[in-house]
Amino acid sequence: MPDTRTTIVVGVTGGIAAYKTCELVRALVRDGFRVKVVMTEAATRFVSPLTFRTLSAEPVAVSLWADEPDAKVHHVSLAEEADVMVIAPCTANVIAKIAHGRTDDMLTATVLATEAPLIVAPAMNVHMWRKDVTQRNVAALKARGAVIVEPGRGELACGDVGEGRLAPVEEIAEAVRTAATRSRDLVGKHVLVTAGGTHEPIDPVRFIGNHSSGKTGFAIAEEAARRGARVFLVTGPTHLPDPFGCEVVRVQTALQMRAAVLARADACDLIVMSAAVADFRPAAAASEKIKKADAPGAISLERNPDILAELGSRGGKAVLVGFAAETSDVEANAKTKLEAKGCDMIVANDVSDPELGFGTEDNRVLLVSRDGVERLGMMPKKQIAREILNRAAALLGSERAR
Ligand code: C5P
Repeated sequence: MPDTRTTIVVGVTGGIAAYKTCELVRALVRDGFRVKVVMTEAATRFVSPLTFRTLSAEPVAVSLWADEPDAKVHHVSLAEEADVMVIAPCTANVIAKIAHGRTDDMLTATVLATEAPLIVAPAMNVHMWRKDVTQRNVAALKARGAVIVEPGRGELACGDVGEGRLAPVEEIAEAVRTAATRSRDLVGKHVLVTAGGTHEPIDPVRFIGNHSSGKTGFAIAEEAARRGARVFLVTGPTHLPDPFGCEVVRVQTALQMRAAVLARADACDLIVMSAAVADFRPAAAASEKIKKADAPGAISLERNPDILAELGSRGGKAVLVGFAAETSDVEANAKTKLEAKGCDMIVANDVSDPELGFGTEDNRVLLVSRDGVERLGMMPKKQIAREILNRAAALLGSERAR
């Protein structure tokens, strides 16, 4: 039987407060979580791996180079298993390393490889904590979405008095519980996501397409799967690999996308239509490659069905999230689209800005629902995916007027 418990990966670094992490692990195990501990070498100078192994009843990871029985790359498998990762205590050194993406040990490699929410509970000498460089590193982690459980004031192990003490264990455990609840909030739900652009054939080798990379839709699908949903991802052509844990249907055209979506829509609780579906297709695709000499003066087009509007007009139980790529009046157009297409939420972005939108790693979007408009700052598409699913999960539990 696979272990279906929510998995918390607890990172322990080399500070004297590491002894308090024993209590944290006990508290999380008592909560019913599966707890897997990963330690830095320095942490093992303070507390023995055997202590954590005994408390968690799970193997403890320290070295990147240990033989793994399942022959998977261990930091990657540990990173994938994590529903939440918490580092307590986290030293100035490890904060600096993860702020800069370094991966020279098992713990930091796991941090970089995981998509799970990250909680960091710093503990260090007051002067180390107050240094500009540490504060900048902490700010960098926050900007990436990490939750920082701020250290408290008091007498420190080194004899100084001030900020730097590890936050109370109960406070850290509470941060983990909050993150874990949110992270598994889609268990039992069916989620359908569309992604990428469509290719509308002109002849067997040419098509009309668009610049959609599929990144946002893939991030939403992967995040929904991580949060426990059964996920169908219907995607147009893209170079992205299948996201972990999703059932992927690859299509070429808008008509194929429509068929794949309609076949699954009734079973779904949430449908997120991030695909950039071509609005038009060549009225007749040539069955043979069109020769240069036979170049048509014009290609006549016909309308593709609007899949989102079709789902919206059918009603149905699913929460419906649409996207709007606009080049002007983003908010007003998104509001109009919300009503016209019968959606519960529109994710709108301004594609006239060359720095944003198609193909980029970051984006800035507006979330428009009947509750109002929320303007998110510039953030990675993976974080946008989390924000969209947070709002959609809340809508799943509420009465909707559509
Ligand atoms: O009308 P517009 O194309 O701007 O609407 C965008 C939204 O509608 C996206 O969520 C997109 O996935 C969806 N759409 C669709 N079928 C189309 C065109 C757009 O489902 N033919």
